[in-house]
Amino acid sequence: MSALADLNGKVAIVTGGASGIGKGIARQLKAEGSHVIIADIEERALHEAAAELGATPVLTDVSDAASVEALAKEALNAFGAVDIVCNNAGIGPMAPVAELTLDDWKWMLGVNLWGVIHGIHTFLPILKSNPDGGHIVNTASMAGLDAPPNLGAYATCKFGVVGLTEVLAQELAAENSKVGVSVLCPGTVRTNIGRSSRNRPAHLTDVGFQDIDIELDDNPAYRWIGPDDAGAVVVRAIQHGYLYALTHPDWYDRVARRHHLIADAFRVQAEAGPPTPR
Ligand SMILES: NC(=O)c1ccc[n+]([C@@H]2O[C@H](COP(=O)([O-])OP(=O)(O)OC[C@H]3O[C@@H](n4cnc5c(N)ncnc54)[C@H](O)[C@@H]3O)[C@@H](O)[C@H]2O)c1
Repeated sequence: MSALADLNGKVAIVTGGASGIGKGIARQLKAEGSHVIIADIEERALHEAAAELGATPVLTDVSDAASVEALAKEALNAFGAVDIVCNNAGIGPMAPVAELTLDDWKWMLGVNLWGVIHGIHTFLPILKSNPDGGHIVNTASMAGLDAPPNLGAYATCKFGVVGLTEVLAQELAAENSKVGVSVLCPGTVRTNIGRSSRNRPAHLTDVGFQDIDIELDDNPAYRWIGPDDAGAVVVRAIQHGYLYALTHPDWYDRVARRHHLIADAFRVQAEAGPPTPR
């Protein structure tokens, strides 16, 4: 896969860059000498983060295609190019599937899945038109590789983001593109995701979701890292052209468990014999 070893002078957009992992990615890209635009829906946090990081703020709702197109226009007007796009904005409230309302589904799919689709749809042609290509990083989650209870809507989006990135990576490689793509699958990162409902649109009134701050859970299996650590993982993935950017390689057992279940299902089915043709 294509990689961008030298990030100095590159123009990078980070959605959800006003907080948490996005802010960590923005900080690490700044440290590499990139020009960074942070795009976020939370106006006050956006301007505070931009001032702190020395980044350019653009108020953006990633669930709205026109808003993401306006972000691209503003970036191109300001810098003349875009080289790196981190589709990172996201929300993480939880509920059992049976308690999810259609408004919950609309909000979560709008931000966590359509947000990434809008980013790719808008920026892929722009990156492809660069002589040196560029790089896209889509933020998924460990919940895009293994689906735990209470994260039905979340995992639906994150599995989608992983699948979309895997397909795009193969298509770009097949055309020898200079554009690379990575999917970030973080484990537990200390951020404001436990307060996601601060950004719930007012018109989506039927609420089944709950904000659950898993930092209050002292589960010893969680290994908390900081947003800057996650940002460093992203920078490494861009520089080396890694498809999977992983903050918790020590959590592979969870993914292996799922893979074993699938392998077992194939074996049981194979032992039962092929379906009888009708
Ligand atoms: N924190 C974790 O442990 C963890 C683990 C796995 C994946 N993730 C993913 O990391 C990404 C960042 O989350 P975080 O943990 O940093 O949370 P966070 O709440 O600290 O940051 C998310 C940012 O996205 C912004 N945002 C929300 N809706 C938006 C919209 N419609 N348009 C534009 N911006 C919007 C928020 O204002 C916020 O600044 C998300 O995609 C999340 O699913 C987080």
